[in-house]
Amino acid sequence: MEMEQKEQRSVRVWDVPTRVFHWALVACICVAVITGLKGGGAMLWHGRAGLAVVGLVVFRIVWGVVGSTYARFGQFMPTPGKILAYVRGQWQGVGHNPLGALSVFALLTVSLLQAVTGLFSNDEIAFEGYLAGMISSDLSLELTSIHRMGFLLLGALVGLHVLSIIFYALVKKHFLVPPMITGKTRVPADLPVQDAQGGSVKARVVALLIAAAAG
Ligand code: HEM
Ligand code: HEM
Repeated sequence: MEMEQKEQRSVRVWDVPTRVFHWALVACICVAVITGLKGGGAMLWHGRAGLAVVGLVVFRIVWGVVGSTYARFGQFMPTPGKILAYVRGQWQGVGHNPLGALSVFALLTVSLLQAVTGLFSNDEIAFEGYLAGMISSDLSLELTSIHRMGFLLLGALVGLHVLSIIFYALVKKHFLVPPMITGKTRVPADLPVQDAQGGSVKARVVALLIAAAAG
């Protein structure tokens, strides 16, 4: 007897800005972690990589409003109803699933908090964040200790993020990484979903300008 092979088709899910944002964020956070732990002369690049994280996350926040379909926060806002449906196995769609969406918001928030506390931190030797001079040294030291703890929180979230992606691949046979590289995903042919729409050149310019202003 022949196995029933469900017909599939390709759908455009992640636009170019979302994909570039993701891998640039990964690169900058890796540089920030390595240089932060190394300290000393590496702190110059720590500050630069960290500042780039501020710009990237601000870009992503604007893109969450003006970007293409599946990049928009409104599209994947994890409401209790959607999360419940997902947990019961009743959610079907493309883009971030409702549980994944929780982790997306957590990753964005903690990355931004980490970078912003960094701006006010100092290593008590030779390097201080670009805005540390604006506040008292006591407050700067307090924010520095939050910055040290924030690193552990961010590390835990990234660990969970990567483990879930491995879980989806091994257990559910659902491969999430190729779409984050090529922008395309495969869905059952009869699933009523569309290619991502919108995210015009104008929207890209606006998002880039706001991000650059923040950086
Ligand atoms: C998301 C971006 C960032 C990450 C992941 C990150 C991570 C880290 C890590 C892992 C450390 C070492 C903590 C330790 O020794 O226990 C550190 C220290 C530090 N970071 Fe960041 N950082 C980021 C952004 C920034 C920014 C933007 C600045 C300033 C412009 C900054 C300033 C500092 C300073 C001054 C220290 C030294 C604190 C100390 O003496 O322990 N960081 N950061
Ligand atoms: C510093 C480490 C990382 C951070 C901070 C991070 C952050 C994020 C964020 C914020 C998103 C949401 C994307 C968006 O809508 O803009 C995301 C999605 C994603 N990330 Fe990461 N990421 C990290 C590392 C990785 C690594 C190492 C991989 C590959 C194994 C990966 C694979 C993915 C995939 C496949 C998605 C899409 C998930 C989905 O389909 O819902 N990430 N990540």
